[in-house]
Amino acid sequence: MPRLNILFVVSECVPFAKTGGLADVAGALPAALADRGHDVRIVMPRYRVTKKHPATRLDQVLVVPMGDGHAYGGVLQTRLPRSPGEQRRPDAPPLPTATVYFLEHDHFYDREGIYNDANGDFGDNLARYTFLSRGALELCSAIGFQPHIVHVQDWPTSLVPVYLNTLYRDGPLGGAASILTVHNLAYQGWFGRDSLPVTGLSLDTYHRGGLEREGSLNVLQGGLVNATVVSTVSPTYAVEIQTRDGGDGLDGLLRARGDTVGILNGIDENVWNPATDKHIAAHYSAKDLSGKAACKAALQREMGLAERPEVPILGLVTRLVQQKGIDIFVAALDRLLSEDLQVVVLGSGESWAEELFTRLSTTTPHFRSFIGMNEPLSHRIEAGADLFLMPSRYEPCGLNQMYSQRYGTLPVVRAVGGLDDTVDHFVTGFKFAELSGAALAQAVEWALHAYRHEPAQFRAMQLRAMRKPQGWNHACRQYEAMFRLAMARRRSELQR
Ligand code: ADP
Ligand code: GLC
Repeated sequence: MPRLNILFVVSECVPFAKTGGLADVAGALPAALADRGHDVRIVMPRYRVTKKHPATRLDQVLVVPMGDGHAYGGVLQTRLPRSPGEQRRPDAPPLPTATVYFLEHDHFYDREGIYNDANGDFGDNLARYTFLSRGALELCSAIGFQPHIVHVQDWPTSLVPVYLNTLYRDGPLGGAASILTVHNLAYQGWFGRDSLPVTGLSLDTYHRGGLEREGSLNVLQGGLVNATVVSTVSPTYAVEIQTRDGGDGLDGLLRARGDTVGILNGIDENVWNPATDKHIAAHYSAKDLSGKAACKAALQREMGLAERPEVPILGLVTRLVQQKGIDIFVAALDRLLSEDLQVVVLGSGESWAEELFTRLSTTTPHFRSFIGMNEPLSHRIEAGADLFLMPSRYEPCGLNQMYSQRYGTLPVVRAVGGLDDTVDHFVTGFKFAELSGAALAQAVEWALHAYRHEPAQFRAMQLRAMRKPQGWNHACRQYEAMFRLAMARRRSELQR
């Protein structure tokens, strides 16, 4: 495929800022596309957490029309680092990676938190992501970067396709095709109707086939209507969001478009690799699993659990929110904790869950939790646990079940969205259908039976899971096909 200029506008990106899987994807997909020869640029906010990453300040002052005036910001430039597993000979020329631009505006971004803090979502999120979305387009004009594809993700950058179809349509960037990838349809970016002027968009855009929904401004809807192509992160979720049950009120729009493509995420196989992972106690691979036992013992020590090699460990690493079925996990806990097993939970989110898990850690010798974000511990749980639980209510793709497979930690998942697409029942993990604690407990019991009584079968499942290709190559080819379609569609749209 010819080399394309691809602009990613993202609200989080590994290794600079992360609240969930979007950041993993926003770091890995651009890197994989750059490896395939494309000129990939990423634009994201200069949040406080990104400031520890060195970057070069560019000369230009960014001037972004906002409201009835302008907002002024700085721009810093760096590159996506290569992943740790990719060290090459020191004399080899550096491999190309994506260029990263941080948009600096301290009033908007220099604070604790990405989207929210303990008091909830930031009240100025519309202004913050307007600055990012419009700022990214202004930056392209300022540095003379002419994208063929502008790829945006979720509501925070969903104004970009709206701008490309309105204020920027007749300018030099108007030829760019836009892709909106939905990582989570439930977060839509709702704002009061009076806030439209912040975006600089005219009232013409504020109607039911545009930015207005139920009397409010709905940023994601605007993006879904205006994007040249809409995609999501697994084939099953692409189907689910076009149903009443899974569509969060946007299913009708998606059905009417009729073109939502589901492309499964890959994982960064260099970062998530038990043979090289810098966070874990011992390395191992499908050829020699012995290091996994050392990782398990180290996890038991770290979490203050009895150091018993034979007892199975169930791991859970997640945002503690409704989506992830935390209530289902809690409903199953009595039954699970009556077994001879250990449970390790890493997460942060709803306070009831944080409090419950903290309390259980002090009262139950075989239950331990860590509340907060802890990237190294998440790797150690993947490596040290035997089973990994994901009882999600819905799951657009899910990355942890893929990481788990790579670490030989068999996932026990609810068969929804990407979980259904990436786990084969009794082949690389275990699946259950019903949204209930009983169904989760039952699936864990199957897994425990295999662990305790069918060790050869359990080992064969681990090896199949570890050997399964899960990198970005396949997805990149699908994205490239989608880019071609989007460019052709944009050309014909503009001729109309
Ligand atoms: P989502 O994006 O919906 O949260 P994913 O499974 O796609 O779900 O991705 C979650 C990502 O966030 C994974 O990389 C996971 O390891 C990470 N993660 C979630 N909670 C924590 C935590 N408390 N500490 C460290 N990493 C976490
Ligand atoms: C979202 C989804 C998750 C998905 C991730 C990356 O946060 O909740 O299922 O894996 O985005 O696409």
